[in-house]
Order: sequence, then structure tokens, then C-alpha cells
Amino acid sequence: MTLNRRDFVSKVGWGAVAAAGARTVTALPAATVATTAAQTADAAAMTAAAVDYADWAAVKGQFRLDPQWLHLSQFFMVSHPRPVRAAIERFRDQLDANPFATVKRGMGFDGGPHEESYPAAVQRAAARYLGGQPDEVALTDSTTQGLALVYNGLTLRPGEEILTTTHDHYVHHEAIRFASERSGASWRRIALYDESATASAEQMVERLRAAIRPQTRVIGLTWVHSCSGVKLPVRALAQTIADTNQKRDEQDRVLLVLDAVHGFGNQPEAAAGLGCDFLASSGHKWIFAPRGTGLLWAPARNWPLLRPTIPTAYDPGPKLAWEDGRLPGPTRAAWISPGGFKAYEHQWAMAEAFEFHARIGRERAAARIAALNTQCKEGLARIPGVRVLTPMATSLSAGIICFEVRGQTAEQTVRGLLGRKVIASSSPYKVSYARLAPSLVNDEREIDAAIRAVRKIV
Ligand SMILES: Cc1ncc(COP(=O)(O)O)c(C=O)c1O
Repeated sequence: MTLNRRDFVSKVGWGAVAAAGARTVTALPAATVATTAAQTADAAAMTAAAVDYADWAAVKGQFRLDPQWLHLSQFFMVSHPRPVRAAIERFRDQLDANPFATVKRGMGFDGGPHEESYPAAVQRAAARYLGGQPDEVALTDSTTQGLALVYNGLTLRPGEEILTTTHDHYVHHEAIRFASERSGASWRRIALYDESATASAEQMVERLRAAIRPQTRVIGLTWVHSCSGVKLPVRALAQTIADTNQKRDEQDRVLLVLDAVHGFGNQPEAAAGLGCDFLASSGHKWIFAPRGTGLLWAPARNWPLLRPTIPTAYDPGPKLAWEDGRLPGPTRAAWISPGGFKAYEHQWAMAEAFEFHARIGRERAAARIAALNTQCKEGLARIPGVRVLTPMATSLSAGIICFEVRGQTAEQTVRGLLGRKVIASSSPYKVSYARLAPSLVNDEREIDAAIRAVRKIV
């Protein structure tokens, strides 16, 4: 029986095993077995049912933020909304009651159908939100980890190059540097704009187009720059790369890697439609997933381009191959999900964050965040001595507003605002600016109060 199943899985995949209902492990006693993903979803729906998600005050009320402060740095590290907290607690209770049975069953280690495992429920929820397929989603701990898995996993050769920009986060550049040092490929940075406030889509597209060389194999971009608040016209940039690829053989095509973290959860479009080849995001920022979670998405055809970096526990294929002493074959998304035991209550509760967004509606959430950001930018721009560095246009900005107060460092501005109970942040870049990030945890009154606080500290 065991051998049959193993052969079966290695030949036709986990889905077919599920369909056949094959199991190697005797079913765990009902009393000790964790609830199924469907039961968990039912419980979550009951928690959510009482909330009117059309009412922004009700959405805001889902967060347990300390009301003594104006929280305008939610993009840094998430506060879990109520349904996510409830899901974490449910999973934690199951794990505390019976860690062995809960992990065996929850992860599908008992040979049960993959579709009934909790990671599968997360993949489905994420795929629905981002507009892709569940088996195109890998689960990670963060954007940092996702980017490292992509750059490290790509096979690059000396003579090839990774092209990136001067606007990306430290972790993105370091992931590129590590990969290029290991492979012998080079890397290069270009500026897509000189002045963030006056950046234009046409200029950014033109600068990228002009920078692509025959040896360019990978382009690393960031959807929303946390140094300036600029949102890239990703579709147009991806189209430029696609045009280049028209003249290239399949194995030489340029791949677009996107750090999506500050657009994922505040933009109206489904991220899978942006045209990038690999997309990395954390869960613990705009998407309101549990802290310490993230994901990678790529279209199905791109996963075989990655070599796994960390052994997986999210698909039995590689382990079965190991047992048989053979190579596992072309990489699948799940094989990139790093294995090793996790804070499972957090990872499994990710599904609930996507449901939270679904209940609000991706486009409604985006419109709300854009409206609060516009209110904030316009208010800041009216204050003499304040310069807003993020573009006013919603086509070129998202949820982060960078600004400076004449005569103050970013740190001084942040400290001044803290003294007035406003939580701002300073951008962690060589040139640092003060940042405010209006989000679904805020309302118009709070934005007005934050603007008044800035006026006071100028
Ligand atoms: C643009 C960007 N990329 C990546 C990261 C790293 O995110 P994480 O710590 O979740 O990996 C950050 C952090 O805020 C960021 O601003």
C-alpha cells in the first residue's frame, strides 16, 4: 500500500492521490483530529457575519489598536483584525490540545488529500485574491525570504546581469548581491526618476527600456517604493520587458521580479495580472495576514526556473524522490515553500486575511485607502514649510506618503509627531524622509488630526 501510494504520487501528483482517497497512515481518532479547513472557514464566516463590511467604522473596529495613538504606520507591521485573531486562536487551541494530530492532519502529513490541508486553503484564498491559481502560490515568512528564494533559485551565469533600480529596499538589493556573487552574474542599478514628486510613468518606462542590455536576464522592481511612496506603472514596465522578449529565445527571456509588498492589499487590480514573472509579498503589512507570513506568486510556467533553496514540507514529491534516490523533477510552487516546522497557527490563519479583504472588496479597499491618502497629501501640501515627496496622482502613489519639514531631519519630525500621539515613521534609506501611511485602520477625522499635528510641529 505504501509503495503503491508513493509511486502514484511521484507519477501523477498529490491531487490524484487526493482524488483516489489514498492514505498511508491509519486515520487519527476523530476526537484528536484537527477540524478541516472547511469547518474552520465556517467558524470564521460566523465571526465575520455580524460585521457590516460596507461600513468603514465597522472595518476599523476590527482592529485592537490602542486608541490613545493615531496609527499611521500600519504598513510597517500589521495589527491583526478580529477574524484573523480569531483564526489564530482557533488554530492555536488545536495545536495546544494535540500538536501531533493537528500538524499531521493540518499539513496533510497523514496522507490525507492535499486539498483538505490548511496550506491548501491558504493557497486557494491567496489565489482568489491575487487572481492566480492555488498551485502558483508558495508560502513564505516575508518579502525578504521570498525575494531571497527567487534570486537564489534562479540559474544565472557569468556574463549575464540583474538590472534593478536605486529605489528598492535593502533586502531586495542584498538578495540580488548574494545571488550575483554566487553565480558570477553582475548587477546594475538605475534611477527610474530623479525627483519622486514629479516622476512620470512615461519617463520610468523609457528609462527602463533604455537600460535593458543583451545580457540583462532579470529585472528587479518594487511596486511601491518605501523610500518615496512612488507606485510604479508595473503593467507598462512589464509590457516593455515583454516587447524586448519578443526578440529573444525562450531561454534568454528577461524575467521581471517584483517586490509587491506595499501595493499588495491597497491596489484595485489583481496582482497576477500585472505581468511580472515572480511576485513577492509579506502577509504582515497591507494584507493584514498574521505576523511572520508571506507569499510568492508566479505563473505556472516559471516555477521550473527556480531551484529550491530550503527543503519543503508542502508537497510530498521531493521527499518521495529522496526516499527513492532519484531527482524530483521540475520545480513546482509548493517546493519553494520553505519546510521546517512553523508557527502554524499564523501561517494557516493567512486564509482569513484574504477573506477579510474579500468581504471588504479589493477595489473598495483600494479606493478608501486612496481617498485617505489624497486627503492627507493635500492637507500636508497646504502647510508652509512642508514638502510632499510622493506624487499626488493616485496612478503614481499608493498608501505611503513621504514628506519633509523644512529644517528638520526625518527623525526629528517623527519624534515631534510621537509627542503629539501620531505614529509616523522614517524611511530606512540613506536619504530618509518622514512617512505617514493612511490605511483601513484610519478615518477622515484621524487624517485631519494628523495634519493638525504636523502643522503644530513645523
Ligand atoms: C519595499 C520593501 N520591501 C521589503 C521589505 C521587507 O519586508 P519584510 O520585513 O516583511 O520582509 C520592506 C519593509 O518594510 C519594504 O519596505
